[in-house]
Amino acid sequence: MAKPASKARTAYVCSECGADYAKWQGQCEACGAWNTLSEIALETAAQAKSPASRRSGWAGKVDAPKVTPLAQVQTDEQARASTGIGEFDRVLGGGLAEGAVVLVGGDPGIGKSTLLLQALAQMAPALPGLYVTGEESLAQVAGRAQRLGLPLEGLQALAETCVERILEHAVKARPRLLIADSIQTLWTETLTAAPGSVSQVREAAARLVRYAKETGTAVFLVGHVTKEGGIAGPRVLEHMVDAVLYFEGDSGSRFRVLRAFKNRFGAVNELGVFAMSDRGLREVSNPSAIFLSGSGGPQPGSCVMVTREGTRPLLVEVQALVDASPLSNPRRVVVGLEGNRLAMLLAVLHRHGGVMVGDQDVFVNVVGGIRVQETAADLPVLLAVLSSLRDRPLPEKTVAFGEVGLSGEIRPVPNGEERLKEAATHGFRRAIVPKANAPKSGGYKGMEVIGVERLSQALEQA
Ligand code: TYD
Ligand code: MG
Repeated sequence: MAKPASKARTAYVCSECGADYAKWQGQCEACGAWNTLSEIALETAAQAKSPASRRSGWAGKVDAPKVTPLAQVQTDEQARASTGIGEFDRVLGGGLAEGAVVLVGGDPGIGKSTLLLQALAQMAPALPGLYVTGEESLAQVAGRAQRLGLPLEGLQALAETCVERILEHAVKARPRLLIADSIQTLWTETLTAAPGSVSQVREAAARLVRYAKETGTAVFLVGHVTKEGGIAGPRVLEHMVDAVLYFEGDSGSRFRVLRAFKNRFGAVNELGVFAMSDRGLREVSNPSAIFLSGSGGPQPGSCVMVTREGTRPLLVEVQALVDASPLSNPRRVVVGLEGNRLAMLLAVLHRHGGVMVGDQDVFVNVVGGIRVQETAADLPVLLAVLSSLRDRPLPEKTVAFGEVGLSGEIRPVPNGEERLKEAATHGFRRAIVPKANAPKSGGYKGMEVIGVERLSQALEQA
């Protein structure tokens, strides 16, 4: 290499989404955020001078790499440890894998520390753990554990933010599980950048990942989602870790949903559902109907759908408000769904349903703060919009699901029968679904199932 070894190579990384660039620019092309790029050193001068120290990390030995036929590789099923919380195990893909590094992200106050402290206490007899707190004092952590009624013996905590010192302690205490709360407070001596900056957060996480892989210790990294780019968000770490779990949920509601966005050990989009109580997060192992607003009789602008997030069906209420707009450019606001999809659906509604909302503001919300990512929400969204526009509720005890295509066709969605079963179990009497998802008999366990092929048919039925 022509470059002198002492000159560290740098890159520019977006603190919002983690995209990196060779040169600085004002706007991140990946996420569109402004002024979020900051310079990071790809390798520090010290590391560049002694590559050996970098490769062997801080402790363990690394064997020289050699090519091996995959068939000869021992594939011992990764040992899994239960967190003692069924919903948490479910999101992790059946428990915590040995040496797994899991990023747990979410808004401040949503319950990250609470959940991890509960899991740590549950797992302590089997997996000795170490809770590293960089945000709260030891007294606050102990106080919370007491309020949660957790057994305090066997819980080890450390108030420290310097990664080198954390690892020093870890080497002595030999925990099998380490929780870093939060990664944004940690910093490493090898960099001069401020704690919370992209380079500190990435380097601190990289150290902990290396430690996890070398020692087989499972590591949870807590990451706050930040609205401003001042502190690096957890997204800059997503590619470094084995699993990424994010909390969703209204701050107003007591329900919390933990969703797997990435998981090397299990299914993505798997959901775990919890309720915040005065004794911490309780699991809701049968969450099907908790996302219904439960507001008595049918209301205009509301439609219940059966979504299938992860591996189980959920009944979710979609609400729409359509109102004459004073603006020349009426508003389209969605919470819990994808915004561009609503614009597309409204265009289909106009073109193939003959329903015009061009001069109306349209607001769509998924009740309970849950996010619905699948296209099965298309039909319920349009039914809710129509219901609000006409100010007439859908018939009582009606559910719907189905994808809407650009030519006004209603397309089938996966696991139709499972969805119908869930609706019938919860006492729904009528389902408007894609024709291909409807049983030939026109009914399912006492529920009338109306199969539709075109949007216009669906609108008539509603
Ligand atoms: P916390 O776990 O500190 O959130 P995070 O680590 O994600 O910032 O959760 C704090 C919130 O949870 C706070 O608003 C109080 C509430 N809470 C309860 O309602 N019950 C409890 O038993 C606990 C410990 C917290
Ligand atoms: Mg916290």
